[in-house]
Amino acid sequence: MKKKNKRRIKITGTGFYVPDKVLTNLDLEKIVDTSDEWITSRTGIKERRIASDDQATSDLSIEASRMALENAGLKAKDIDLIIVATSSPDTILPSTGCWVQKGLGAGNIPAFDISAGCTGWIYGMIVAEGLILNGAHKRILLIGSEVLTRITNWKDRNTCVLFGDAGSAVVLEESDDESGMLSSYWGADGNLGNLLYMPGGGTRIPASAESVTQDLHCIHMKGNDVFKHAVKRMGEASLEALKSAGLEKEDIDYLIPHQANSRIIDATGRRLKVPSEKVFTNIHKYGNVSVASIPLGLHELWEEGKLKKGTIVVMVAFGAGFTWAAVAYRW
Ligand code: UT7
Repeated sequence: MKKKNKRRIKITGTGFYVPDKVLTNLDLEKIVDTSDEWITSRTGIKERRIASDDQATSDLSIEASRMALENAGLKAKDIDLIIVATSSPDTILPSTGCWVQKGLGAGNIPAFDISAGCTGWIYGMIVAEGLILNGAHKRILLIGSEVLTRITNWKDRNTCVLFGDAGSAVVLEESDDESGMLSSYWGADGNLGNLLYMPGGGTRIPASAESVTQDLHCIHMKGNDVFKHAVKRMGEASLEALKSAGLEKEDIDYLIPHQANSRIIDATGRRLKVPSEKVFTNIHKYGNVSVASIPLGLHELWEEGKLKKGTIVVMVAFGAGFTWAAVAYRW
C-alpha cells in the first residue's frame, strides 16, 4: 500500500538514549565461538550497548522522550498520544506505552504499542500520520525502543553478536509548510514469520520450565534467508515511496536504512544508486537496535547539522513478520 500526501505531518523534535555499558566484539569472543574479524566483516558491528539490570524498555523510552520533547520546546503535558514501537516490551500487558505515560507524567492521554519487528517505527509514522491528518490528535510522541539483549540467546553465535539496546523518540505534528512526510509505502508477508521470531512466551507456546530450557523466549533467526528478503524488500519499498512522492533516486540527500547489517545497508544504497557518503550508518557503534535504528540515525544527522531545510531523506526498514516500509521525507 502506498500513499502520497498533500497535507503532511512533520517531526518537530528528536531524541535518543543508549545505555552506558558497552559490549565489544572482543568481549563476545569470550562468550561464544566468534571473532572480531568475523563480526566486523559479516555485519559491520564493532560494539553494542547493554541495558543495566534495572533498565527496561520504558526507561530507555522515557530518557529519549525527554530529549525529543526538549528539542521540540514542549513538556510532556503538551502531547496527546504516545505510541511505542517495540518487540521487547517491559511487559506483555500493559503496553510499554502506558509505562512511558506514567514515567513522563503525561496525564491520561491514550498510549499503546506497535509490534512490527524492526519496521515498527516506520509503521508508527504511518499510523501517526493518519491520526494527525484526520484531526484526532495534534501532537504525538512516537517512540522506537528496544532492550533486545534480554531476549537474546547468549549461547547462539548466529544471533547474539547482532543486537543492542537503544531508545529513540520523535514528536510529530501537522506541518504548516512544505516540509514533512511526503509519502509512504508499507507491506508484510506473514508466510515468512518463522524465519525471524521468538517462539515462546505467547499463547502458541506459553511459558513453562521446558520452554525456558529450550531458549524459546529468545530471538530465533534464519539469518541467510532474512538477509535476501531484506535486500529485496528495502530496495522495493524505497522505490515505491520515491515514486509516490514524485521523486527520483537522484533526489535523495540521505538514505537512512534500518541498521541490521552493513552488507544489507550497502546493497540497498547500491540498488538506489545513492553514493555511500549519503547512506547513513552507525551500526558499528550500536549493532542492530531494531526500531530505534532509524530515528536514532535521524537524530544524529540533525545533531551534525546535516538536515537543512529541503533536505530529502528516505527512511526504510525490514523486520520480523516479515514487514517492510519506507517513508520519503522533506526536512
Ligand atoms: O533486523 C531485522 C532483520 N535482520 C536482518 O536483516 C539480519 C539478516 N541476516 C544477516 O545479517 C546475516 O545473515 C548474518 C550476519 C546473521 C549472518 O551472516 P551470513 O553471511 O549470512 O552467515 P551464515 O549464517 O551463512 O553463516 C556463515 C558461517 C556459518 O559457518 P559454516 O556453516 O559455513 O561453517 C556459521 O556457522 O558463519 C558461521 N557463523 C559465525 N562464525 C563466527 C555464524 N555466526 C557466527 C559468528 N562468529 N558470530
